[in-house]
Amino acid sequence: MKWRSGKEIRSLFIDFWVSKGSTHYPSFSLIPDDPSLLFTIAGMVPFKPWYLGIEKPATPRAVTSQKCVRTNDIENVGRTARHHTFFEMLGNFAWGDYFKKEAITWGWEFLTEVIGLEPERLSVTIYKDDEEAYHAWRNLVGVPEDRIFRFDRDDNFWFMGSQGPCGPCSEIMYDQGPAFSCGKPGCAVGCSCDRYLEIWNLVFTQFDLQKDGTLVPLPKKNIDTGMGLERLTSIVQRVRTDFETDLFKPLIDRACALGGVNYGDSPKTDLAVRVIADHVRSVAFMIADGILPSNEGRGYVLRRLLRRAERFGRLLGVNRPFLLDFLPDVLELMQDPYRELADNLLTIQSIIEVEEKRFDRTLQSGTELLEGEISRLASSGRGVLPGDVAFALYDTYGFPLELTAEIVEERGLAVDREGFNRQMTAQRERARGASKQKRSEMAGDVWSDLSERLGETPYSSGGEGEGTSRVTALVMNGEEVSALEEGDEGEVLLDSTPFYAEKGGQVGDRGTLSSLEGKASVLDTVVRGRGLAVHRVKVLSGTLSAGDTLRSEVNTDRQRAIRRNHTATHLLHEALGRILGGHVRQSGSLVGEGFLRFDFTHFEPLSEEQILSVEEEVNEKILANIPLEISEGSMEEARACGAKALFEEKYGEKVRIVRIPSFSVELCGGLHALSTGEIGLFKILREEGIGSGTRRITAVTGREALRHFQRLSQRMGRLGALLSVEEEAVLPRVERLQDEVKTLARRVDEVRAANLRASLDSAVKKEILSSGLEAVWGRFDGVSADTLREMGDRVKKASRGEGIVILLASAEGENVILVAMADEEAVKKGISAGKIVKEASARFGGGGGGRPNLAQGGGKDPSLLDGVYQAFLSLAEGQITKG
Ligand code: ALA
Repeated sequence: MKWRSGKEIRSLFIDFWVSKGSTHYPSFSLIPDDPSLLFTIAGMVPFKPWYLGIEKPATPRAVTSQKCVRTNDIENVGRTARHHTFFEMLGNFAWGDYFKKEAITWGWEFLTEVIGLEPERLSVTIYKDDEEAYHAWRNLVGVPEDRIFRFDRDDNFWFMGSQGPCGPCSEIMYDQGPAFSCGKPGCAVGCSCDRYLEIWNLVFTQFDLQKDGTLVPLPKKNIDTGMGLERLTSIVQRVRTDFETDLFKPLIDRACALGGVNYGDSPKTDLAVRVIADHVRSVAFMIADGILPSNEGRGYVLRRLLRRAERFGRLLGVNRPFLLDFLPDVLELMQDPYRELADNLLTIQSIIEVEEKRFDRTLQSGTELLEGEISRLASSGRGVLPGDVAFALYDTYGFPLELTAEIVEERGLAVDREGFNRQMTAQRERARGASKQKRSEMAGDVWSDLSERLGETPYSSGGEGEGTSRVTALVMNGEEVSALEEGDEGEVLLDSTPFYAEKGGQVGDRGTLSSLEGKASVLDTVVRGRGLAVHRVKVLSGTLSAGDTLRSEVNTDRQRAIRRNHTATHLLHEALGRILGGHVRQSGSLVGEGFLRFDFTHFEPLSEEQILSVEEEVNEKILANIPLEISEGSMEEARACGAKALFEEKYGEKVRIVRIPSFSVELCGGLHALSTGEIGLFKILREEGIGSGTRRITAVTGREALRHFQRLSQRMGRLGALLSVEEEAVLPRVERLQDEVKTLARRVDEVRAANLRASLDSAVKKEILSSGLEAVWGRFDGVSADTLREMGDRVKKASRGEGIVILLASAEGENVILVAMADEEAVKKGISAGKIVKEASARFGGGGGGRPNLAQGGGKDPSLLDGVYQAFLSLAEGQITKG
């Protein structure tokens, strides 16, 4: 067999299936268009609607090398030869076209004739009573009978998940030879060791698995196959693990160089090196596909992988963020054919950088805390880390649960996962209660049923927001009804609609629906199921019945405001890219009636100057009154003209391209102004960070912008009147007033301190502890930390000379300030002011610390001060070195 590179193998596979009449689709995004999956886990995922017959296949045969992420086995990654979080799946697919015979004979042809695998080393498995597959292997290919194995449902039936397309499968195994065997008696095809490697899974997708477990035959018989590129490459290159192939080698070498180790030196360092090589690919590809680190869903997986790689770097002795060092290698290895890596390089770089720095900081403090807990557990003989500690690590220090578990398990201890989950749930509920109640979703499957029955609702934008439509269904409280009466709130479905339904960040339209029999106000329009426009209504008078013909009137004034904001969003997006740089990417938006909100990747607050430039650029384009050009085209055309796009778009579909000539091009399905001049005026109200390298701009246009300036000038006028100065003089006047307030506050503090000094002795409590140490406690509300220190110094001077430790507190409003001091004698006796403050502050949910002789801290809730004196005495007593 000839040595070939991974890249060559990938191309050979694609070329081979193209020669068999398949269409080659470039890899789809890692983010599936399927709410039941977090990631694309197999080559067939993007084609799911074609398997289920929901959509007509655009081509009967296809071939892909699909980017996949699987995260069910992260702990095993690096520990075995072939577990990966990111991998490429080579797959050929057919829908109602070729079936078992061709999939089997062509698959064999590819492996033996194109790749050159030795036929005598190949065996196959089939589903126990799949005679059609048996016949193809035995008679058409000629595999000897003793190399065809029958297995049951556990091994030879492929399910995508608990629901969806599935079917019997047939696997091709490659015998790597006795040297790879586990050596156990009975090691044969089916053994999980490395001798008989499963290289290709051919699935004969004939069923749709239902929620209740039944198998419903699919309308057509389909083929779905999957072969790991990394694995096949390891066989062709005759190496023991995927990590030694040329797909990984440069990453492994880089990790070794970084840690100053050689691959093969020790299992522990090899593991770290492999984990890093694996995770860095996932991280780069996930960010390229638009995932940002966060605390849930995909973003959490990304964060966890990045942090896991970082931690394994620490195990190699690399005590700084290092993942960026790998990016050039990942690019070199993968940018052909995955150009999204180069396209998004700046974003990938900056997100990794920000996230690494963030983790570096938390890792340190979290690790200290965890180590403390681990030694406490060890000394108390208990074996389980409490859930609330794991949760505190997660919540405060950003330790993913799995990371904590891994560290703890390395010491032979466990984590109370249930306890952790309870805390997590409790926190979610708190968050839910705190945030405004989300619009209540109508529960139930009524939408998917209606969506299937009625199909997509056509949008009729012709008559200036007016039209007539027929009611195809009415829904109330999640159930279909025949009529809605006066006062009812429910949903109306129409055979076509002039109402824009909320999507792509643009809010839904409002307006009215009416007939001679009744009238309803449309409160909102949303999309449910597959493109079903759902009008949420309240019936104002009379009755709406299924089958009625209604006159629909959109509130066009409101819609025009929304259009202005939408077009302004495109201008803003482009202006940000031009002013801040190519790394700016949209990560979300909300286009409403009153304002627009735009979230994007960027790593520091915008300067005042940058904000001004962005406003100027956008307003210049508004003044130029540029007519918009909106057209339909293919994804490829859109890419070719450099259109900005979100990441979920599929290839092969028609897309809508919105152009603001000689400025911006974006894929967008929303409503826009006819020309930029309609926007009138654009003003940024706020710019803020919303987590991990993402910024948010809130802005207004049109009438709202005018109102904004009116309000400002009114307020300015009032301020001037209040201060009795002209508008220009308001600022210096306020600055002067602030200075005066500061001076006054200082004086008040001085006077208070002087009064306190006079009565200092009677105001403090004293106790003599063992070895003659004097412990002094005092509370002086309303004074600053400086004053507390000064008083502490006075108390110290009056000490008896056998050592003195002092804790002073001040409460002001909600806040508590603590200062602890100890003289040299006390420190010699074992006293640490730093530790005392740290412990005392913890009572107030705060923090603090310092040196053994002087420390400062504090927290919230002065009512807790009562018990501090006793606690202080026992703390100090406990610190005294006995003997
Ligand atoms: N979808 C099949 C698999 O993932 C080919 O194994």
